[in-house]
Amino acid sequence: MRRAIYPGSFDPVTNGHLDIIERGCKLFDEIIIAILVNPEKTPFFTIEERQEMLAQVLEEIEHGSCRLRVDSFEGLLVQYAVARQAHAIVRGIRAISDYEYELQMALMNRRLEPTIETVFMMPAEAYSYVSSRLVKEVFLLGGELGGLVPPLVEARMKEKVAKG
Ligand code: PNS
Repeated sequence: MRRAIYPGSFDPVTNGHLDIIERGCKLFDEIIIAILVNPEKTPFFTIEERQEMLAQVLEEIEHGSCRLRVDSFEGLLVQYAVARQAHAIVRGIRAISDYEYELQMALMNRRLEPTIETVFMMPAEAYSYVSSRLVKEVFLLGGELGGLVPPLVEARMKEKVAKG
């Protein structure tokens, strides 16, 4: 039974994240999508909102026999991964520009916890420029998000802004 953690902010979850999860399902029996609780950042969506949206959109994706769970964590990722008895951490790499930061994190995580491997996965080219940060920027400036995030996420973003 191979278990992986897919950590991130997921603020909000994008089609790029879902593409990585689908690919990860070909390698792992279980993936825990773990949302970082980061008190230093002011997020667009609360942890609860992100958790709830993720749970809903994961129902729509191809995951075969791979079990998908959504959770949140605080503190060191590797400590969380050990507590969950995970074998690996999955991270998506879109472009070379992601690599430097991801390599640093992977090597630091390895130093902290040599039993956990980091697995880098490449999303489909169509998502190679999609990030939660750009999605929020485009949305707040009135751009279209079709194809970049699941329709549910776009609807929740519109609701959120309408409520103020
Ligand atoms: O989606 P993001 O914001 O790129 O995800 C970054 C994340 C959550 C993977 C990273 O910030 C993280 O692991 N934070 C937990 C704290 C930690 O373990 N720091 C040391 C990493 S080397």
